[in-house]
Amino acid sequence: MKTIDAPSDQIVVTPPYARPRRLRRTAALREMVRETQVHVEGLVQPLFVLPGSGVHQEISSMPGIYRYSVDTVVEEVRRLAELGIRGVLLFGIPDHKDEIASSNYDPNGVVQRASEAIKREVPEITVIADLCNCEYTSHGHCGILKGESVDNDATLELLARVALTYARAGVDVVAPSDMMDGRVRVIRENLDAHGFQETAIMAYSAKFASAYYGPFREAAESAPAFGDRRSYQMDPANRREALRETALDIEEGADIVMVKPGLPYLDVLREVRDAFELPLAVYNVSGEYSMLKAAALRGWIEEERAVDETLLAFARAGADITITYFAADFAARARRR
Ligand code: PBG
Ligand code: ZN
Repeated sequence: MKTIDAPSDQIVVTPPYARPRRLRRTAALREMVRETQVHVEGLVQPLFVLPGSGVHQEISSMPGIYRYSVDTVVEEVRRLAELGIRGVLLFGIPDHKDEIASSNYDPNGVVQRASEAIKREVPEITVIADLCNCEYTSHGHCGILKGESVDNDATLELLARVALTYARAGVDVVAPSDMMDGRVRVIRENLDAHGFQETAIMAYSAKFASAYYGPFREAAESAPAFGDRRSYQMDPANRREALRETALDIEEGADIVMVKPGLPYLDVLREVRDAFELPLAVYNVSGEYSMLKAAALRGWIEEERAVDETLLAFARAGADITITYFAADFAARARRR
């Protein structure tokens, strides 16, 4: 057997004075000095709702995530509430799509009915409704088209109309994710004018045009039929613009601001945290979920530890609220700990 030759060089070892390892020695010490915690109360579970009843349909690009109908979503929300989850984010997948997203402002639309049912059966849960049009338009863009481009101001009217139907259905927080300019102000003005001063707005403020929305677009059937969203969502290269978008949403009346996606934009999250006082949300999006899940299903990564580390990263970077498809799993695990 070959052994390593003992080197003849004389080595000097100066014992360190500072030894940070002292506080890493036992689990109790590590927990005592831990700087950041993930709170189940700050996690929001996204939920996809479609018409019909008895639906519990797994999304192929997002193993472990399902599409529900109004009746089954209420059961799921009950389970989430029992796990300690305080908020859900609703996405509707309608039967009917057209040029002007008319099923989005139908008082009997799928989000409206889901919200009514949840607020009736599980009133303690906060219902947040994603406010966008791409699931409802035949062309899959987030607003009303004029030629091949999305008409900003025509879309503002549509967003306000939809927001009112959500507020009437008991939605606690509307969350515009379309990235039209001036939407927060128009939504706030119209909610107020119709007596919904208490309905909050969580603005997707720094929402980047990202490849990580891919699995979601399959889940929600919302991929654009032509082109992409780069004329309204932000360029991934832009930090300063993220601060400007956030400042505008705050001036216009947003109650909560958001950075989206999460992991590739932790720097932006930290900068927004340092620059503004409002509650800050981060969206750990579908592609981030699917990547981790795919690796875990192949045994290439330890799912639970990777999820814990990911959610911790958002808290450490300054998020108060984390929207994540892992919310239920994390909450169930936190129960057992
Ligand atoms: C609607 C919307 C999208 C997401 C949230 N709201 C899709 C998009 O902008 O194309 C993405 C969520 C996710 O990927 O988990 N505009
Ligand atoms: Zn959209």
